[in-house]
Amino acid sequence: MELTTTFSETRDLSVGRVALVPTMGFFHEGHLSLMRLVRDRCDTLIVSNFVNPTQFDRENDLEEYPRDLDRDRAMAVEVDVDIFFEPELGEVYPEGASTIVDVPGVSHWMEGRHRPGHFAGVATVVAKLFAGIQPDDAVFGRKDAQQLAVIEAMVRDLRFPVEIVAAPLVRESDGLALSSRNVHLSPADRESSLAISRGLFQAAEQIDAGEVRGERLEATVARSSRRLTTEYVTLASLETMVPIATLDQPAVLAVAAQVGSVRLIDNIVVDFEGGRPVPDRGLILDEPSRLGTLP
Ligand code: PAF
Repeated sequence: MELTTTFSETRDLSVGRVALVPTMGFFHEGHLSLMRLVRDRCDTLIVSNFVNPTQFDRENDLEEYPRDLDRDRAMAVEVDVDIFFEPELGEVYPEGASTIVDVPGVSHWMEGRHRPGHFAGVATVVAKLFAGIQPDDAVFGRKDAQQLAVIEAMVRDLRFPVEIVAAPLVRESDGLALSSRNVHLSPADRESSLAISRGLFQAAEQIDAGEVRGERLEATVARSSRRLTTEYVTLASLETMVPIATLDQPAVLAVAAQVGSVRLIDNIVVDFEGGRPVPDRGLILDEPSRLGTLP
């Protein structure tokens, strides 16, 4: 595996079909599943590891974001990554950089409301990665369903010649959605956080049984998470991320809640097959994930 720090050396080392997995590091099985998803369909698999300061909207969140570069590199080797791109701040944001990519509309609701500026930070850094690396494919997880919709809209609007590959959300065997931030959960908070996925699974059962009223589905998740500080529970169109009252199109039932010091997001994407809504509960691991401990 090659370690690179500049866009030009990353491009120079790339051959054939190039797939990019953009990350902020501190890998868990969710990240590895993104890498595995495209390993066989590309000639050069690039993983970028850059904790992007412009997408953090809360004090201390950037400093407290978990990092462990050595462990990340070792895990990338395990899944046969070709290039591990770890740029310095100045490579991504050169002195005087002022261009911002904003994707209004799709960025407006849910995370956009609660994290002002977050999606402009994400879209800006992803646009830089696409421009600097020029991948053919780029992989994003459905855990961040709204981020995925923002990037799809950006790719469409700016005509980036990149195919976006959507990867399933990955869960611990007890249902907790994998996130690098889970490392900050105390044992008691981790236990409480299971109310989120439990509520989503109950809503998924309601969908399987024919429920299409958004307020009923949202109420199920809100009831289950009532002991947590829930920021929103919203049923929204999967493409536009605009809230919808009835499940009559591909959608996401999304939730954000504060659990102790950790802000968690989770969702169930609802695809349509043969005209019927089919909730995607994600991939559930058989064994505990290999989420690291803080170094
Ligand atoms: O999902 C993430 O880890 C980040 O938002 C991303 C896409 C790497 C951009 O910094």
